Amino acid sequence: MYRIILNKVKTTLKASIKIVSNFPRLLKLAPKILIEGGHLSINVAYVKYGELLKGKHVIVTGGGSGIGMAIARKALDLGAKVLITGRNHSKLKRAEQILNNSNLKILVWDISETEKISENLNIALKLLDGNLDILVNNAGVLSKKIFPNVTEEDWDNVYGINSKGAYFLTQEVCQYWLGNSTNDVKKVINISSQGGYVGATYPYRMTKWDIAGLTQGLGNLLASKNIIINGIAPGIISTEMQKNYLKQGENSYCDLNPQKRIASPEEIAELAAFLLGDASNFIIGQTILCDGGFSLK
Ligand SMILES: NC(=O)c1ccc[n+]([C@@H]2O[C@H](COP(=O)([O-])OP(=O)(O)OC[C@H]3O[C@@H](n4cnc5c(N)ncnc54)[C@H](OP(=O)(O)O)[C@@H]3O)[C@@H](O)[C@H]2O)c1
Repeated sequence: MYRIILNKVKTTLKASIKIVSNFPRLLKLAPKILIEGGHLSINVAYVKYGELLKGKHVIVTGGGSGIGMAIARKALDLGAKVLITGRNHSKLKRAEQILNNSNLKILVWDISETEKISENLNIALKLLDGNLDILVNNAGVLSKKIFPNVTEEDWDNVYGINSKGAYFLTQEVCQYWLGNSTNDVKKVINISSQGGYVGATYPYRMTKWDIAGLTQGLGNLLASKNIIINGIAPGIISTEMQKNYLKQGENSYCDLNPQKRIASPEEIAELAAFLLGDASNFIIGQTILCDGGFSLK
């Protein structure tokens, strides 16, 4: 009896010491938990499609980081040969090191330089052994200013990349496909945004409306030519682009959508894999929202 009581006292003492010693840590975390709603983790289901994209040649613009890099990684895993582009050579080299796959090629290519599109597409085609099956229009930049402080310079920069650059690249690629008659299915995946599905007051969101509209229009125009155009509208994704907005570190809590979380680039890549493969060939001109429910309000 005496021993049982002693053990109970010991256990209670140990538990109290644990609480007291953890107190400073809990105190530090408390505001975070209260203000940000606590820590949530993201579980990405990785679908194993095997060599779904074997023999396919893919360009991912802006593939040196974030969503583009995740899509490039997934396409490589599925057997494709992939070319990633961007303005910054060291970013592309870094991605090349990380992805570490002999089927990956890199090319410095600023898509806002529309006068160089033909020249760059020719180089890209050479790097892809003269083949191109899929274009992923992923490159994009955010607006620096929002209404009522938008400058023309910012407008031109954002539109030059997100809208005009993607448009003329798509046109050039489709011209190439239309001029090379083949029965193989060709695909374009346009990366829009949840911002393309709510009211837009600044250039970034407006360009994302553009891209969703272009997906619908070209989807309709080119389906009969065996060119399938679809898109993805991501919600808030943990990438470089969001680094100034996502100040919560490892915490994936976000109160902007009903699921109360941000997503990882890999979740967008999983959706892209479905659209890149032939299982989605009856889906035409659709931009699929992947936003934790943000656009439902
Ligand atoms: N993260 C989000 O929450 C989110 C949400 C919705 C939609 N999106 C869209 O997803 C796409 C990818 O963004 P992310 O989040 O992955 O951000 P990110 O990591 O900043 O990726 C953007 C990529 O675009 C490239 N890029 C920018 N301007 C370019 C140009 N003129 N020519 C070629 N490449 C260019 C960048 O590379 P360089 O700097 O080397 O050029 C970079 O690799 C964007 O279209 C973005 O609008 C993102």
